[in-house]
Amino acid sequence: MARRPILAANWKMQKTVGEALAFAGSFLPLVKDAAADVVLAPPATALHALGQAIQGSNVALAAQNVSPEPKGAFTGELSTEMLADVGCSYAIVGHSERRTLFGETSAFVAAKAEALLAQNILPIVCCGESLEQREANQTFSYVGGQIRESLARIDKARAAEIVVAYEPIWAIGTGKTATPEMAQEVHAMIRGVLGELFGADGEAIRIQYGGSVKPANVAELMSQTDIDGALVGGASLEPESFSQIVNFGG
Ligand code: 13P
Repeated sequence: MARRPILAANWKMQKTVGEALAFAGSFLPLVKDAAADVVLAPPATALHALGQAIQGSNVALAAQNVSPEPKGAFTGELSTEMLADVGCSYAIVGHSERRTLFGETSAFVAAKAEALLAQNILPIVCCGESLEQREANQTFSYVGGQIRESLARIDKARAAEIVVAYEPIWAIGTGKTATPEMAQEVHAMIRGVLGELFGADGEAIRIQYGGSVKPANVAELMSQTDIDGALVGGASLEPESFSQIVNFGG
């Protein structure tokens, strides 16, 4: 099945409002003809201004996190309604940094993904194994389990709209990319789990690869059958390099 590619920038805890706007000014002209969905996930403080700056363009806005709660006494949290209010059409959930540094479980991620879809914000649901798990041959069981649990509350009628991101932890920010074959092997396993969960709609779900994606390696990764896009950290911080990634390299 032909799936539209989706390239997303995860800026993590980087860029002030001014820096985000400067990025947009340079970046938008470079990707205006992209044959892919293009997404920017700035820190929460820049969501509103960046959302305004990209309005009417072919670039979409994403949050890096969200609360599953609709409102109330949750100091420091943001609701799905607040994200919709500033123009988010996507939100990343279950990034490995949230799971390992902030103790987020797959059950919590599942609640976030459910709340997002109910608000018509598309979740980008992350998964990925540690080096220890890979070396212990636990990649398939661990990542498969993360997917089953994190997608447990997705409405089957909406499943085709979600995005999954496979990001092996050992490849994030390390310069070590999974080889295209290694990534494809896990993406194919994830595709199988999506088929078990959602039937034929599992074929429509886009699966991004993340972990040291760069202009030089994106085309080869994207050539794999089940790799439908990339979630990019470091190489998304400069307009030139992320635009090259959006335009599939070189
Ligand atoms: P890097 O591209 O810096 O390895 O980060 C990947 C990532 O975690 C994106 O969410």
